[in-house]
Amino acid sequence: MFQSLQQLPADPILGLSAACRADPNPHKVDLTIGIYMDEQGLCPVFEAVQLAQRAMVTEESTKAYLPAAGDERFNVAIQQLTLGANSRALAEGRVSSITTPGGCGALRIGAEIIQAAAPGASVWVSDPTWPVHIPLLGSVGLQFRQYRYYAPATHSVNFDAMTEDLKNAAAGDIVLLHGCCHNPCGADLSLAQWGVIADMAERQGFTPFVDLAYQGLGDGLEADAAGLRLLVERLPEVIVAASCSKNLGLYRERTGATIFICEEQANARALLSQALVAARRVYSMPPAHGALLAGRVLTDARLGELWRTELDAMCQRINGLRRSLRQALEAQCGGNFAFIEREKGMFSFLGLSAEQALRLRQEHGVYMLDSSRINVAGVNARNIDYIAASVAKVL
Ligand code: LMR
Repeated sequence: MFQSLQQLPADPILGLSAACRADPNPHKVDLTIGIYMDEQGLCPVFEAVQLAQRAMVTEESTKAYLPAAGDERFNVAIQQLTLGANSRALAEGRVSSITTPGGCGALRIGAEIIQAAAPGASVWVSDPTWPVHIPLLGSVGLQFRQYRYYAPATHSVNFDAMTEDLKNAAAGDIVLLHGCCHNPCGADLSLAQWGVIADMAERQGFTPFVDLAYQGLGDGLEADAAGLRLLVERLPEVIVAASCSKNLGLYRERTGATIFICEEQANARALLSQALVAARRVYSMPPAHGALLAGRVLTDARLGELWRTELDAMCQRINGLRRSLRQALEAQCGGNFAFIEREKGMFSFLGLSAEQALRLRQEHGVYMLDSSRINVAGVNARNIDYIAASVAKVL
C-alpha cells in the first residue's frame, strides 16, 4: 500500500531551515524560519516564562487533561490581550475562545467553524500570504480567492488593488487578514485602512478572520492589535487566531487560541460547543504546558510587567535591526532599502529573484526563502556586513 506514496518536496520554510542547519559553511546565516533570535543567534526563553515555569513545576499536582476548551485563566487572558481589557464585546459576553495547539491549531479550528456554518465558503487570502494558510484552511474544504496586497515595485501595500479585489467579497465570504507584522512581506495596513476594511465588511457582509501571530513585535502590544480591535468594535462577527509562539516565545509548546466574537451571547456559546466538537475530532485535547505558563505570565502583575518589558526590548531590537540592515545594504549595494525600516515585525522581502536567493544559499551560505523573505530577527552585529556584502554580490 505505501509503495504508491511519492516522496514529497520539503516544506518551503522548514526545508530551508533544515538545509541551513546541515550546511557546514562556518559563515552561514539562517534568515528562514520566523523565530526571534538574539545577538548570540539564539532563540531565548523569556525570563518571565522561566519564572512561571519554576513556580509551576513546584506547584503542579496533576497532569490530567485540561478541560476541552483549555485553561480558563489563559482563555480569559488571551481574550483581553487581543481585544483589549475594555472591549465592549467582552463586557457584553459575546466572546468565546478555545485553547489550541499554537496559531496553526487556532486557524484550523476557525476553519472548522466556518466550514460548519457555511460549507465550502470562500476565504479571501492576501497575495502573498503565509504558505501554510491555504493548505491548513483548505484541508477542511474551504475555497480560496486571492486579493492583491503587496506591490513589489514600491515595497508597500497596494491598498487600491486590495479594496478593488475585496469589492467582490460577498456576504458569507471570509476575509483572512494579518493582524500585524504581515507574513511574509512586513507591510501592514494603517489604522485608516483598517477602517475602510470595516466599512466594506459592514456594507458587503463578509466576515474577517484575523491571524494575530505577532502581536507586540511591530509597534507594541496595543498598537499591533488596534486594527483588530477596530473591526471588533464595528462588526457583529470576527474570528481571531491568536498565537503565543512569538510574543511569549512558546514556539514548541504550541500555545494559541481561536477567539469568536459573535453578535449575541448565545451565538458565542454555540460556537464554542462547535469548536469543542471540532477539536475532539482533530486533536482531542489542547496541550497544557504553554497555556498554563502563558496564563500565569499574563495574569500575574509582576510576571506580566517583566514580560512586557522583555517583549518591548525584542520589538525595539527588531526595529533597530531594520535600521541597521537598511544602512548596511545601502552602503554595500547602493539603491534604496528604506522600505525595510518602514515594515513591521520579523519579515521583509528583499526583492531578489529565486535565482538570486539560491545563489545566496549556495555561494554564501545566506539562507532566505525563495521569495527573498528574510527573518530580520536573524540579523546580528556579527553577520550584518556579511549578509549585505553577499546580497551585493548577487545583485
Ligand atoms: C514562519 O513563517 O517562518 C513561521 O510562522 C514559522 C512557520 O511555522 O512557518
